[in-house]
Amino acid sequence: MVCLGNICRSPMAAVVGRAMVEEAGLGERFLVESFGTAGYHVGEAADRRAVAALRRRGWPAGDAHRARRITPDDVADCELVLCADRSNVDQVLRLVRGPRDRSHIQLLRSFDPAAPPGDDEVPDPWGGDSSDFDHTLELIEAACRGLVERLAVAVR
Ligand code: 4NP
Repeated sequence: MVCLGNICRSPMAAVVGRAMVEEAGLGERFLVESFGTAGYHVGEAADRRAVAALRRRGWPAGDAHRARRITPDDVADCELVLCADRSNVDQVLRLVRGPRDRSHIQLLRSFDPAAPPGDDEVPDPWGGDSSDFDHTLELIEAACRGLVERLAVAVR
């Protein structure tokens, strides 16, 4: 899971994705991690508003999170690199080494069957308020539900 700062969207997506993967019995097969494309917040915990939104909606809030910046090795190692928005995709594509297949780099919301075409990003809530964080988290939940359904089919 990738966003810009790795303190809001992608840490929430990792908590939700990890919980849904576990719930689906796929915890032994998939490790869900998160990264940012920028280094501004490396080493920091998740934004307290992201943690509060997770708690409001009953998710295990990621106390252990520390922000990381994604590297070319991370991009190569991950089976799927799921980005919150298009600028994240653009940044991650710059980290692909050589003439490698790039189809594993996708927008997270491409897994949400209800995501309208052209409105398939997870908006950045950083400058917003708690309702923006709640909205962001709802989009993340819908995308992760679709993602885990696809993963379950893929490993069957
Ligand atoms: P995130 O949110 O990409 O969802 O973690 C942001 C966090 C920090 C900044 C921007 C977005 N920032 O500019 O510092």
